[in-house]
Amino acid sequence: MKKILVLPGDGIGPEIVAEALKVLDKVKEKFNLAIETEEGVLGGAAIDAEGHPYPEVTQKQALAADAILLGAVGGPKWDKIEDITIRPEKGLLGIRSQLELFSNLRPAILYPQLADASSLKPEIVSGLDILIVRELTGGIYFGTPRGFRELENGAKEGFNTYKYSEPEIERIGRSAFEAAKKRGGKLCSVDKANVLEATILWREVMDRLAPEYPEVELSHMYVDNAAMQLVRAPKQFDVMVTGNMFGDILSDCAAMLTGSIGMLPSASLDKNNKGMYEPIHGSAPDIAGQGIANPLATILSVAMMLRYSLDEAEAANAIEKAVSDVLDQNLRTADIYSEGMKKVSTSEMGAAVVAAL
Ligand code: IPM
Ligand code: MG
Repeated sequence: MKKILVLPGDGIGPEIVAEALKVLDKVKEKFNLAIETEEGVLGGAAIDAEGHPYPEVTQKQALAADAILLGAVGGPKWDKIEDITIRPEKGLLGIRSQLELFSNLRPAILYPQLADASSLKPEIVSGLDILIVRELTGGIYFGTPRGFRELENGAKEGFNTYKYSEPEIERIGRSAFEAAKKRGGKLCSVDKANVLEATILWREVMDRLAPEYPEVELSHMYVDNAAMQLVRAPKQFDVMVTGNMFGDILSDCAAMLTGSIGMLPSASLDKNNKGMYEPIHGSAPDIAGQGIANPLATILSVAMMLRYSLDEAEAANAIEKAVSDVLDQNLRTADIYSEGMKKVSTSEMGAAVVAAL
């Protein structure tokens, strides 16, 4: 029996996770899967219930689980907390770090049915299929020393440390080369090696790995250029690999190319492919509780979970096919709605995917 920890989180998290669980129940029945789920708290919900964004109870559950399904964390209610170590986001960073989920896979795929939703011209984005591999447990997000201090002149200074060690770069590099090998065979490593030592080493290690993957063509790009190329000619990319902070930024940019950040799932994996799965979009507190959020990214996250952590590719394919089917039926939540389509609520969308299955 495989154990999944479900962390609905904050904002629209509980609404979209509820739909994803209906879909999971359906595939369990259809494919006879031995999977059990358990709920827990993370982020703001955990601060409210336990006084900590990643409390001990959740840590125990997370360590015991085979995979984790997360909604989203954060919201204005907790933004005013003075102690930044108990902000909701710290819960997310805490679980990523404790479980060593260093490899974050963020696909940006343009669904042909949604070609009009992109803010870029259709010919620039049609057929887009990029995978961003983001290092998730190192870099400037976690580097120490960090903090605030007072300078001699009395001014306050905030400071962080950007560092990467060879083993950290090597393991994310291998994840990315492996992914590229299974896809289009092109890997673009993104750095700022013209300025930052940490990324000079990054580039060196990527070059060192390259000969072990002769079927993959490795290239390098500075991050500023990569941001520009993503909006200029995104189809030049197959797999991109980069550090934590650059990956945070570039993955939002890539997601928006598809016009539908509400459609994109992600996986965060450890070295044994235990993983946490979450939609790329955030908790969207402005629309929480209205029943209008798009549950498809979370539903597609369930598909990724079945594929990567639970070895159930057939069930994963079935979910992805069902999502494509509901788009073919012209069903759209508000975020991807365009004229002539049928606007549906969060739960109607979930029900439609279950019906398509
Ligand atoms: C993401 C988010 C998080 C990050 C925040 C919520 C801490 O933006 O998953 O991309 O910066 O990693
Ligand atoms: Mg982000």
